[in-house]
Amino acid sequence: MWIYYDSKTGNVQRFMEKIKAERHWHIEKINSDMHIDHPGHLVTFTTRIGEIPESTMKFLQSNADRIQTISSSGNRNWGKNFAVAADRVSGAFGIPITLKFELSGTRTDVSSFINAIENYL
Ligand SMILES: Cc1cc2nc3c(=O)[nH]c(=O)nc-3n(C[C@H](O)[C@H](O)[C@H](O)COP(=O)(O)O)c2cc1C
Repeated sequence: MWIYYDSKTGNVQRFMEKIKAERHWHIEKINSDMHIDHPGHLVTFTTRIGEIPESTMKFLQSNADRIQTISSSGNRNWGKNFAVAADRVSGAFGIPITLKFELSGTRTDVSSFINAIENYL
């Protein structure tokens, strides 16, 4: 399983550490000029009141065809903009959503993510 992620202030990074403790998956932090060979799942965060991070956007411009699902971290304090980067990526690139979670995710988020990825066909 290949998981790609973006993280600015460390929450998605911490979510990924929790996944790493449960599964021996290939987990890689993205950068803007990266080209991936292996299809995989992308986890990002929501920024600037409902926006997709610029680094995620640039990554998707080269790699969207190999991204199987999208997930976003966010914070419910942002109300209707909670984790909407997932909806935006889904709408712009036709990629299904796996999970929206708060900050670095709860244990329930970690198991929901693992179940969804393992059941992805
Ligand atoms: C300037 C700024 C704007 C944000 N806007 C949103 C938002 O619109 N919706 C949301 O759900 N979270 C928003 N957040 C919260 C982040 O998505 C959240 O803290 C996330 O866990 C950050 O991931 P990272 O620590 O891996 O970078 C915002 C955070 C910052 C600093």
